[in-house]
Amino acid sequence: MEAHTCVVQALTWLALIALFHYLTTTLGRHRLRRHKQKYPPGPKPWPIIGNLNLVGSVPHQSFHCLSQKYGEIMQLKFGSFPIVVVSSPEMAKEILQTHDQTFASRPALAAGKYTSYNYSDMAWAPNGPHWRLARRLYLNELFSTKRIDSYEYIRVEERHALMSRLYALSGRETVIREELTRFTLTNVSRMALGEKYFSESESDRSSSRVKLEELKEMVDEWFLLGGVFNIGDWIPWLSFLDLQGYVKRMKALHKKFDRFLDHVIADHKAKREANKDNFVAKDMVDVVLQLADDPNLEVKLNSDGVKGLLQDPILGGTDTSAITVEWAISELLKQPRLLRKATEELDRVIGRDRWVEEDDIQNLPYICAIAKETMRFHPVGTLLAPHLSTEDCKIADYDIRKGTTVFVNTWSIGRDPRYWEASEKFLPERFLGKNIDVTGHHFELLPFGSGRRMCPGYRLGLMLIHSTLANLLHGFSWKLPDNVKPEDVEMEEEFGLTTHRKIPIVVVVEPRLSAHLYV
Ligand code: HEM
Repeated sequence: MEAHTCVVQALTWLALIALFHYLTTTLGRHRLRRHKQKYPPGPKPWPIIGNLNLVGSVPHQSFHCLSQKYGEIMQLKFGSFPIVVVSSPEMAKEILQTHDQTFASRPALAAGKYTSYNYSDMAWAPNGPHWRLARRLYLNELFSTKRIDSYEYIRVEERHALMSRLYALSGRETVIREELTRFTLTNVSRMALGEKYFSESESDRSSSRVKLEELKEMVDEWFLLGGVFNIGDWIPWLSFLDLQGYVKRMKALHKKFDRFLDHVIADHKAKREANKDNFVAKDMVDVVLQLADDPNLEVKLNSDGVKGLLQDPILGGTDTSAITVEWAISELLKQPRLLRKATEELDRVIGRDRWVEEDDIQNLPYICAIAKETMRFHPVGTLLAPHLSTEDCKIADYDIRKGTTVFVNTWSIGRDPRYWEASEKFLPERFLGKNIDVTGHHFELLPFGSGRRMCPGYRLGLMLIHSTLANLLHGFSWKLPDNVKPEDVEMEEEFGLTTHRKIPIVVVVEPRLSAHLYV
């Protein structure tokens, strides 16, 4: 009995000594390290909410204002999570090039969990084997030069359909965004899924389960929910309350996408079964399904993985290009002088008896300059999709902790007066004769990001933007409705993972070419 008491006493003493040792060494060291660390400047956080109170409904503009005070790299807190915002080309280069590997992951936000099959798509996947597989698949299958070129006939057919629809609407007030999203959605669906899989009218008897309008709403909702600052992400113990109702919307959206993709996959499997002996993969769905059957694949693709990978191209390709073209048209309508210059170039280079082909774009420097100026002034990803650091690192002499979410404010960067003269003016001429491109090499212009997480669809995106814009300006003269003056065109923004016009622009078009070209 006595021996037992002695053992208990000894153990108690040992535990106390160990605890004392831990408190004096580990915590002391931790305090010492923290003491020595130097974080980027930023506003003082409140208890519990951190700096969430400083983020308004247009977050990139809130960050822009804060950066005027705290500088090109600043640190905030959302709840208790560290957030770093960079707002200059130099700092963007540090994140996306110098420390690319460290910042190549994504934070695990509710949007990725509920609307992207538990981070199984490419956009929300953390840096790891699944993301690497997705990236390889996209670059080799969907966006290889050969594959993109082979789909040119789809883009030509859909361009023709767009021009015919607009011809039928000439002289009438038209919400151009609706026509543009219909065009990009059809294009991307046909390229990635093999066919449209949505119905465009009541009489459309295709096997689709979803109407065009519904699918457009689903795409819009995905981008909006992808960009929201959801309180539960940053103050996890409040997440069960879903105070803003976002998670409920995410779950509802997920159900709709799931039904849609189930149908697309079932249809592809049925076709494969019917052609069992001489089946050749024709589109991205076929390729992903083949990969899912491959027992030697580095990462097993389960049903969520398959759907996640199929979801991204429909989303990535639709909203982005349509939004950019809508911004371009809006800016041109505010300055009719620019519209005249664009049509002069088109008349001179293309002439009035044919449409603009993809090969013509290299001979249209002014159209390309309009596209670049639009991407500078209205980048679709005003804050690039959030990056996450996976290890401690130092940037501009500041310590950035592992687990920090980083926003790159491309909206601010495109307005940096050190790089852009009269940065608040829409001036396509600034790009003429200049060698600034948009493919991630010039950090003052980052519409597609740069580095490992750079947009894999940028070549297709650029093709769609250039050729759509060129043909819209070539085929039609553009006016505002009679009661709207150019200076009255509002340019208010609605923030999301992509930022578009808050109010869609209404236009009136009239044909410029011979009637037979539109039918
Ligand atoms: C105007 C056209 C487009 C623009 C402006 C654009 C812009 C962007 C931006 C800014 C990013 C985030 C980069 C970052 O996190 O650093 C991104 C990522 C992505 N984009 Fe695009 N994009 C366009 C077209 C497309 C197209 C056509 C597709 C596919 C069909 C696509 C698919 C994706 C995907 C899957 C990602 C996630 C990449 C990753 O996280 O690894 N995008 N895009």
